[in-house]
Amino acid sequence: MSGKLYPVPAGEWRERAWLDAKAYDALYKRSISDPQGFWGEIGRRLDWIKPYTRVKNTSFVPGDVSIKWYEDGTLNVAANCIDRHLATRGDQVAIIWEGDDPTQEEQITYRQLHERVCKFANVLKAHGVKKGDRVTIYLPMIPEAAYAMLACARIGAIHSVVFGGFSPEALAGRIEDAQSKFIITADEGVRGGKFIPLKKNTDDALAKAGKGDETVLVVRRTGRPVPWTAGRDLWAHEETARVSADCPLAEINAEDALFILYTSGSTGKPKGVLHTSGGYLTYAALTHQYVFDYHDGDIYWCTADVGWVTGHSYIVYGPLANGATTLMFEGVPNYPTMSRFWNVVDKWKVNIFYTAPTAIRALMGAGDDFVKSSDRSSLRLLGSVGEPINPEAWEWYHNVVGEGRSPIVDTWWQTETGGILISPLPGATALKPGSATLPFFGVQPELVDDKGTVQSGAATGNLVILDSWPGQARTIYGDHERFVQTYFATYPGTYFTGDGCRRDEDGYYWITGRVDDVINVSGHRLGTAEVESALVSHPKVAEAAVVGYPHNLKGQGIYCYVTLNAGEAWSPEMVKELTAHVRKEIGPIASPDLIQFAPGLPKTRSGKIMRRILRKIAEDEYSNLGDISTLADPAVVQDLIDNRQNRR
Ligand code: WT7
Repeated sequence: MSGKLYPVPAGEWRERAWLDAKAYDALYKRSISDPQGFWGEIGRRLDWIKPYTRVKNTSFVPGDVSIKWYEDGTLNVAANCIDRHLATRGDQVAIIWEGDDPTQEEQITYRQLHERVCKFANVLKAHGVKKGDRVTIYLPMIPEAAYAMLACARIGAIHSVVFGGFSPEALAGRIEDAQSKFIITADEGVRGGKFIPLKKNTDDALAKAGKGDETVLVVRRTGRPVPWTAGRDLWAHEETARVSADCPLAEINAEDALFILYTSGSTGKPKGVLHTSGGYLTYAALTHQYVFDYHDGDIYWCTADVGWVTGHSYIVYGPLANGATTLMFEGVPNYPTMSRFWNVVDKWKVNIFYTAPTAIRALMGAGDDFVKSSDRSSLRLLGSVGEPINPEAWEWYHNVVGEGRSPIVDTWWQTETGGILISPLPGATALKPGSATLPFFGVQPELVDDKGTVQSGAATGNLVILDSWPGQARTIYGDHERFVQTYFATYPGTYFTGDGCRRDEDGYYWITGRVDDVINVSGHRLGTAEVESALVSHPKVAEAAVVGYPHNLKGQGIYCYVTLNAGEAWSPEMVKELTAHVRKEIGPIASPDLIQFAPGLPKTRSGKIMRRILRKIAEDEYSNLGDISTLADPAVVQDLIDNRQNRR
C-alpha cells in the first residue's frame, strides 16, 4: 500500500517554486554530509549583532545530552522579525487580523508592529520584567498576543503562552512551574460568538498558584466588566499610552531562551519545552519559506492558535522573520457558517492555507456546498498538521477545496522539534495522500524496533531522529534529566519522537500515531495520565484508566474506564459530573468522549494496568485480546467487554 501518486504540478507552478526535486536532493545530501557548512550558510539569513563562528555543537549521548547551535553569536529575535524589514517594507501589512465577528478586522503594517511591540516591551520593563524572567501569556487570538511575544523577545524575557482554552487549574500549574510573576491576559476572549472569561480564569489561577507578588496586564477585548484587583491588575491600553515607542534592543545570545511551551507527555504533568533563539528562528524561517514555498507578496494563513507551537513557529516567528503578511484568525471554522474559512480566504485573497485534519474532516462532513459557494481562486498551496490525515480527507481537501490545483504539504513535527521535520516541498516532492513524505534539510529519520534495532528499507518501527537540527528543543524547563529520559534514553544516541511510522519502498514516511501513552485529540496532545489524574481527583473516584480510540472527527477520542469508591453508585449523572470535572481540571479539549464504569481494571499480578486490553475493548476489537491468563482477576475483562461503550 504505497498509495496514489500526485506529481508536482507542471508549468507556472513548478517554475515559481523555490526548489525542484534535483535541488532538494542536492541540498539534502549536503545538509547531512556537511552540517557545519550547510547551517553555517543558512544561519546568515538572519541579522546577527555579533556573528557566530561556531555552528553546530550537539550531543545525543544520554550522559551528555547537549544541544547548541550558533552558540557564540548574538542577535535579537524581534529585530529579525520586525526592525530589519522597516527600510524595505515598513508600510507592508505584517499581520492581518480577522475577528470572530466577520465585520471586525485590522491590518497592522511592519511600522505599526514595531511601534506597538516597542511600547509593549517598555510596559514590561516599567514593571520590572528583565532578561530571563518568565512571562505567561494567556490571550485570545488577537494581535496583542503577537505583540506580547515579540515584546518579550525584544527584551530577552522568556514567554510561556498558555492556550486560552485551558482551565484556571491548568493555567495555575503552568504559572507555578515557570515561576512566572508577570501574566498577560484579556478581559475576555471571543470564539464562535461566545465569550471566554480569561481575566476571571487568571484570577482563579492566581488564587491557586499565586504568591501575591504577580502583575497582571489586561488587554481590553470585549470591554465588558471584569473582576479587578487594584495594585495588581493593569490595563494594557493605559500602560502603553504612558510609555515611549522607543525601546532599545537587547543583545541576546543564540542559546538564550526564547520561550517555554507546555506539552503533554506519557507520564506526569505537562512539561515546559524550552526553545532558544538563534537556531529556532533560523529553522522556523527556513522551513516557512521552503515548505510553504513562500514568496514575497504572498498572503499566508495558518489557522492554528498561538497557544500551540504551530502558532509560535508558523503564525508569528517564521512568517515575520521572512517579512511575510501573516493572517491571524480569532474565530472558528463553523461560525457564523461552515463557509467561514473560505470566505476569509476570498476576503483577503489568501495564497497559502495551513490547517489541521480535524477541521478538514468536520468541514468535509458538512458537505461541498459550503466550499463551492466561495471562489478560492487565490489559493496556491494547502497545508496540514497535527495528526495523520486520512487519505479520504486528503482527497477532499485537494479536490474540493483546492480544485486539484494546489499541492498539499502534510507536515509532520512536534512541539519539541520547533519546526517541520518531515514534509513534501511543493516544487520538489510528488505527493501520496496520507504520507508526510520526506525529511527536511538536516533531518535524518530512522525506524527502530522495540529493542532499538534499525529497520532498513521498506519497514515499520518507532520513529527516531539520528542527529540534531537547529530548531530542536534544548531542555525541559527546570528538569534537564526529564528531557534526557524522555527523548534520549529509550534508543540511546537518538532523539525518540514517540511516534510509530512506516517507510515505503520509495522512502516515504507514513506516521501511524503515538506509540506511548499520549493521545492526539483533534490535533491536540494529551497525556492519558493527565486525564486519569483529573478523574481520580474527583472525590468519588477510586481509580481510572484512559485510552484513545479511533474517532471519525477528532482522530482519537478519549475513552475513560472509571472505578468508583466503595458505596458510590454509577448513574448517568455520574458521567456528566465526571465530564464536567475533567473540563474544569484541564479544559474543554480534554472532555471525555466515553466513560465506562469499571468494577475492576485488568491488572497484572504486580498491579500494572494492562492498557493493551483496554485499548482493544475501546476500539471494539476485543475478539483477540491475547493472553489474559496472567491477569490478577481475568473475570473483569468480560464485564468490561459486556459493557463497552463503543459498539460499532
Ligand atoms: C504529535 C506532536 C507540530 C504541531 C502540532 C502538534 C502528531 C503532528 C503530524 C502529521 C501525523 C502528526 C504526532 C506528533 N503529528 N503532525 N503531519 N502527521 N502525525 O504538535 O502537540 O507537539 O504533537 O502530533 O503524533 O508526535 P504536538
